[in-house]
Amino acid sequence: MEEYPVIVIDNGTTTTKSGYAGDDSPRSCIPMVVARSKDKNSTQNAYVGDWALGKKNMHFSHPMEKGLITNWDDMERIWNEIFFIELRVDPEENRILLTESLFNPKQKREKTTEIMFETFKTPAVYLIPSHCLPLYNLGRETGTVIDMGSMSSCCCIIDGKIDRNSIKKLDVGGKEVTNFLQELLERKGYSLSNKIERVNVRDIKEKLSFCLTNNKQKMSSIEEIIKESGINSDEKYHQNYQLPDKQNLAIGKERFLSTELFFRSKIEILQLSGLVENKGNEKDKIMINQKGYDKLEQKKVVVENENQIESSDFNSSSLPNMIYKSILNCSSKEKEKTQKEMFKNIVISGGSSMFEGLQERLTHELNLFWAENAPEIKVIAPPERKFLAWVGGSILSELNKLQNKWFTKAEYNENGSSYVNIKCNDFL
Ligand SMILES: Nc1ncnc2c1ncn2[C@@H]1O[C@H](COP(=O)(O)OP(=O)(O)OP(=O)(O)O)[C@@H](O)[C@H]1O
Ligand SMILES: [Mg+2]
Repeated sequence: MEEYPVIVIDNGTTTTKSGYAGDDSPRSCIPMVVARSKDKNSTQNAYVGDWALGKKNMHFSHPMEKGLITNWDDMERIWNEIFFIELRVDPEENRILLTESLFNPKQKREKTTEIMFETFKTPAVYLIPSHCLPLYNLGRETGTVIDMGSMSSCCCIIDGKIDRNSIKKLDVGGKEVTNFLQELLERKGYSLSNKIERVNVRDIKEKLSFCLTNNKQKMSSIEEIIKESGINSDEKYHQNYQLPDKQNLAIGKERFLSTELFFRSKIEILQLSGLVENKGNEKDKIMINQKGYDKLEQKKVVVENENQIESSDFNSSSLPNMIYKSILNCSSKEKEKTQKEMFKNIVISGGSSMFEGLQERLTHELNLFWAENAPEIKVIAPPERKFLAWVGGSILSELNKLQNKWFTKAEYNENGSSYVNIKCNDFL
């Protein structure tokens, strides 16, 4: 088995990162979109990733939602593109290390392995939650891992293994921030609703949005927040963004109001910035329109079929709250000692962790949970954090830690796909 090289694929809702184990960075990042003709009888091929993005008048679909594969035909197209076009490797001659969400149900793990063995005829696979990987970049196996991609989720890793009690999530990720930025810009009078313009809004977010670094809980207005954060003049945060048609957008406080979504509810941000009045009725109206974001604290997760992780109380109201609850829920025997260790080893990873100021803001807000005697809090933001899960997978594959652990084709033939839940269980 060891004679086969390893291909690492970090499946993601927005982009799937893939490449060769041992490399420092992924060779390919495919946008997770498939474009097909609107005419069902058309024999025209589907377009994938960047090839799909430029198409017009086609039907667009996305293989994953919030970290879970929801369209298997599309996902197979993406994997096909990765093997044969992007990496130019023969899956029959490579072992495949695949990342998965913390919330991946058993039957989706089974379907993934079935496709790998039946369609791509790979000799061996291994499935690992992406949260287990970032710490390998830091040469550690214990710490708190925050993944910020299509949503934000967090868990404590002890000696390489996930502490299941510590799993928490916040339903705010890149898409929510982009949508909110778009709403803020539209409130300002810009119209940005077609598909191409949405891509621009994401670009504005990635280039210009940032997090305020010093924010107190009880602020009464946006002016006060700006003053507290040391940004005291409009010039400091005012930027122009040029659209492809040369139209100039003036982007100001939207740059940091958009990322406040990780820290406060949308209604609170709109009220603080004076965009809606602070009236009870208005608040209720907006809460109904917001797909329940403000009500997440009370909402229970509906777990699809039989899930690997059975607890239903995952949700948090803000990013600092998610991390705090996760660490306090840690179930290690030496609880106090482990929690101290966790607070000083908080690693942020994923595309949405790239916002300038996030590391400082999180450190500041986590300290606010204690009136006195706060534990040492250290938020680690490695420069390569956008691809931290992929790079961790690349390192892990080289460490021999997976030796004898691979789910092989022979085992699949003998035991079927459900055997993945026994074989790929070392980090759970
Ligand atoms: N420099 C940047 N600044 C801010 N956001 C960024 C930056 N680069 C990428 N992003 C955002 O990161 C998000 C994608 O992150 P990532 O690739 O980690 O998610 P994913 O792995 O596809 O999703 P998931 O793991 O949740 O399934 C997108 O919303 C993208 O706009
Ligand atoms: Mg990801």
